[in-house]
Amino acid sequence: MNVVDLITKKRDGGEHSRDELRFLMEGVVEGKIPDYQLAAWAMAVYFQGMTPAEATALTQAMAASGETLNLQGLAPAGQLIVDKHSSGGVGDKTTLAVGPIVAACGLPVGKMSGRGLSFSGGTIDKLEGIPGWSASLSMTQFRRQLQEVGLVVAAQTATLAPADQRLYALRDVTGTVPSLPLIAGSIMSKKLAAGADGIVLDVKCGRGAFMETLTQARELAQLMVSIGRGAGRGVTALITAMEQPLGRAVGNNLEVREAIDALHGRGPQDFQELTEAVAIEMLLLGDATLRGLQGASGKEAALAAAGDRVKGAIDSGAAFAKFVEFVVAQGGEEGSVVEPGRLATAPVALEMRAEREGVIRGLDARAVGMAVVGLGGGRRRKGDAIDHRVGVVVAAKVGEQVGDGDLLLTVHAADGESAKVAAAQLRQTYTIVEEVVDSADDEPGSFGVPVVLERITS
Ligand code: URA
Repeated sequence: MNVVDLITKKRDGGEHSRDELRFLMEGVVEGKIPDYQLAAWAMAVYFQGMTPAEATALTQAMAASGETLNLQGLAPAGQLIVDKHSSGGVGDKTTLAVGPIVAACGLPVGKMSGRGLSFSGGTIDKLEGIPGWSASLSMTQFRRQLQEVGLVVAAQTATLAPADQRLYALRDVTGTVPSLPLIAGSIMSKKLAAGADGIVLDVKCGRGAFMETLTQARELAQLMVSIGRGAGRGVTALITAMEQPLGRAVGNNLEVREAIDALHGRGPQDFQELTEAVAIEMLLLGDATLRGLQGASGKEAALAAAGDRVKGAIDSGAAFAKFVEFVVAQGGEEGSVVEPGRLATAPVALEMRAEREGVIRGLDARAVGMAVVGLGGGRRRKGDAIDHRVGVVVAAKVGEQVGDGDLLLTVHAADGESAKVAAAQLRQTYTIVEEVVDSADDEPGSFGVPVVLERITS
């Protein structure tokens, strides 16, 4: 087999065989394929796409390109291990709240998470704002904590789906990130390699996501569900709104505080709704009793029972207690989460106020995410240091009425100069109109509320 032939084949709209994709991914990991050939192939895939069978074979080849985790035997009898993954967004601290809720309901959650890149935040960055908390765990520590605490979150290791790590870095600089089969392969290869039996996918849709329209998000979700099914895993995908930031806080420590609010049942409405919806889906996939109930009494009964379990874990304080246990198990300072006011805060807070009366028609999540990167809360390049204290707290969200001079958002910055730069960038973020007019379903900007737009399951 020859790489040039494979690039040409894809360029001309041909379909790769399983063996060809395995050959390519092995070549990627072994460093036999230079960047220019890999980039040319990625661009050919970007333009020509892939059939579902090809995308599945690509994912499996990427998952098999490194270590795969064996989590067998770590769940209590009858329970399955369920993972979750978000396709990336702004203010998305869902894992921080969902993990403890699901673990408090008796379902073990073992997760490999990423760091933020560009406008999109990352779970590991958020947790690293808690003094002492560490994401570097050996496989033995990962397994032990999964068994003893029922919740573990670690940084993705270099040995998990290494073909994706190299390909993703190259896509990032060659304009080939927004390709459906490449995104699906990238996400699902890591999920398959991470070993969970069931996977809940949170496919974000809107200006603050890789998929800007509902049609694209639906296509990506269907593809990932079908890839998971092909690999023998249970998969549910929720398509969720990422037009405006999720919740009100964007920025690492600010988001940890908001996640703690949600664990007490006091999160902003959209974030609380999404947290509970994802937790319910994880329980439906993994919990033995709920799976049985679904078979015997149907989906509605199982949904209601899962919802009661989630509410019970929050209201009893069990979910928050699990969060504290998990933080401490990974070296984090207990006081900083029991009293989140102790987490480091930025020295400067600058308010931005409305200059006219009206209804918030749009709030550009991507612009808010980029402003937080500019404040030092995210990174432009892999490896950049980040400031956990900074960020933006949104006071007015889509659909809300504001008066002239009302608070729109607060910028939390390391100094007055960077606060002013962010405020200037954020001036165009809001669209305020006299009245809201319905727009076409698939138009970005038309799905700020509600947060869960569709559910697709295998
Ligand atoms: N997240 C990933 O892990 N990979 C992609 O390609 C896009 C989002």
